[in-house]
Amino acid sequence: MTAEEWTTAEHVHRYLDRADAFPRRAEGESVLLEHVPRNARRILDLGTGDGRLLALLQSDRPEMLGLGLDLSELMLEAARKRFADDERIELVKHDLAEPLPASGRFDAVVSSMAIHHLEHERKRSLYGEVFELLEPGGVFANFEHVASPTPRMHLAFFAAIGEPLEHEDPSDRLLDVESQLGWLRALGFQDVDCYWKWLEMALLIGVKPAEIG
Ligand SMILES: C[S@@+](CC[C@H](N)C(=O)[O-])C[C@H]1O[C@@H](n2cnc3c(N)ncnc32)[C@H](O)[C@@H]1O
Repeated sequence: MTAEEWTTAEHVHRYLDRADAFPRRAEGESVLLEHVPRNARRILDLGTGDGRLLALLQSDRPEMLGLGLDLSELMLEAARKRFADDERIELVKHDLAEPLPASGRFDAVVSSMAIHHLEHERKRSLYGEVFELLEPGGVFANFEHVASPTPRMHLAFFAAIGEPLEHEDPSDRLLDVESQLGWLRALGFQDVDCYWKWLEMALLIGVKPAEIG
């Protein structure tokens, strides 16, 4: 299993304690929020963690119904605490290495810093499942930790976020932006691009065509 770290309290709390401290993160997230329509009703969050992204989306989409998937019971506990008594948000334990559960269609599928934990082949097949789950016209927005083009730039990223390289997450399976954009285009997504990027943090977006065929 590639995501074992996320089952330990130390790893989970270490991430949650500094989730707000990633430089420029709020900027990237704000671009994501701009591209998820305000009237999106059903939103799926892949690797929801403590529900950070669902909460951001919910702040100006009070009617939305969110489904957050995550493998980590500790993360789901934190998310359940965040959304206690909020019936608009459903949280389900699911390993993204396995096919997505059948849960109907979504107006938007989002993810934040999660899909890079999957093997590359699974990233690609997951993108295909996302395409199938989206309503026509639906948007896929993946705020992601991506690979640097060179080892020197990888070191520079860790220096910029104030982390020693030894703290690199062993479950990271970083992949470059271009390969992922190419997969999204090949799957049939439109308007595919990297909408925001700072070093190894990038926002990849594609829209399912409103009319297919
Ligand atoms: C860096 S955290 C990001 C959490 C949250 N999306 C956020 O932006 O704060 C990565 C999340 O991906 C989840 N994750 C990693 N591998 C996973 C897998 N195979 N299936 C489901 N969730 C996974 C972890 O449990 C963790 O919650």
